[in-house]
Amino acid sequence: MSAMQSDTHLMRILLGIGGGIAAYKTPSLVRDMRSRGAEIAVVLTENARRFVAETALQAVSGRKPRSTLWDADAEAAMGHIELARWADAVLIAPATANLLARLAAGLADDLLTTARLATTAPVYVAPAMNTRMWLHPATQRNVECLRADGVTVLGPADGEQACGEFGPGRMLAPEQIADAVVAALRTQRVLAGVRVLVTAGPTREFLDPVRFISNRSSGRQGFALAEAARDAGAQVTLVAGPVQLPAPAGIDRIDVVSAEKMKAAVATHVHTADIFVSVAAVADYRPTEFYAQKLKKSGRNGSEMHVLLEENDDIVGSIATAEPRPFVVGFAAETQNALAYGREKRLRKNMDAIVVNDVSDQAIGFDSADNAVTLIHDGGEVALQKMPKAAIARRLIEEIAALYAARAARKHTARKRDR
Ligand code: CTP
Repeated sequence: MSAMQSDTHLMRILLGIGGGIAAYKTPSLVRDMRSRGAEIAVVLTENARRFVAETALQAVSGRKPRSTLWDADAEAAMGHIELARWADAVLIAPATANLLARLAAGLADDLLTTARLATTAPVYVAPAMNTRMWLHPATQRNVECLRADGVTVLGPADGEQACGEFGPGRMLAPEQIADAVVAALRTQRVLAGVRVLVTAGPTREFLDPVRFISNRSSGRQGFALAEAARDAGAQVTLVAGPVQLPAPAGIDRIDVVSAEKMKAAVATHVHTADIFVSVAAVADYRPTEFYAQKLKKSGRNGSEMHVLLEENDDIVGSIATAEPRPFVVGFAAETQNALAYGREKRLRKNMDAIVVNDVSDQAIGFDSADNAVTLIHDGGEVALQKMPKAAIARRLIEEIAALYAARAARKHTARKRDR
């Protein structure tokens, strides 16, 4: 399989319409997105229904628009959670000041806001409101909040408004919104048909039935990467160490405990992987001996106990130095000289790319929701500033997909030359 393979379904966009005057433009928006190859399902807020005719939306989208959680027939056909899962992207246009506030607060008090909370797909908002309302610190604060949650804000444009004032607040033109969302979705499905193997979480190296050596990895960054790869269209296998995370939908998850078991699971699945992303914090050492029964203490105060450790095999290193091999991406969590160690580690382990993480910073890394990393490859380095782990994962997947596609293209040219 290759990165060039075509996608299996049309892009699916859930269009949420807010109650502003710009809602009258949404039938054109639906048409513009459909003409660019997207399938559209429409959800309106109660107020939006005053600004745009549902019959018009039904005619252009080819589906009955929805506005309430309490429509038994619509729920029976496709429940609201299913609707949220169905979407490859959620676009909210126009997003009024009130709707932005509800989204920023994480409310789920109607079908639109509920669907937005229930989706893992990227969310886009196209604000439209009076200039003063847009510039108000409360609205700006809400927009910042949404950005921090990974929402993409499209516009607003500057110009004359329906209320006669001038300034920022106009919804972007439907074609501009359609271009932005469809283009983003195209790049989003950059791994369509590609098989990705990810390891995540820590490993545990048992000394006896109740004691083990492990580390602080939560598995969150690895799980986020697996999900981002899935959202980009990849077929994902996730080998997870012991973590407190639910199995992501649509991903083949294999649970392991020790480094040896992780290595075995990777060895079984690597042959069918196009890309291997080794995020797991694999324990470097394991106790040389495993005691079948719980070890007892000596009972003498101050006595010493020595545990002898032996090195675990390097999983990513062994994959990256074998042939044939997938495109290999490693991770490095460092507490000092992060970039220098990362560069050295990438070369030493023969990896195509490495993601370096400075875990001495408490605000990022291990248990936190945010991360900041640098991706190092043979053609350069990309620094990603602090953002939620899911957003980091999406950006990393974009970069990895581009590097993978470039390598596939180089191989293709080399094969043609050798013929
Ligand atoms: N890794 C692995 N198998 C191991 C140890 C690490 O596959 N036994 C992978 C990790 O998943 C990660 C990368 O190697 O992608 C970096 O691991 P790290 O432990 O930081 O590298 P080390 O070689 O142990 O370097 P050092 O101990 O010098 O930090």
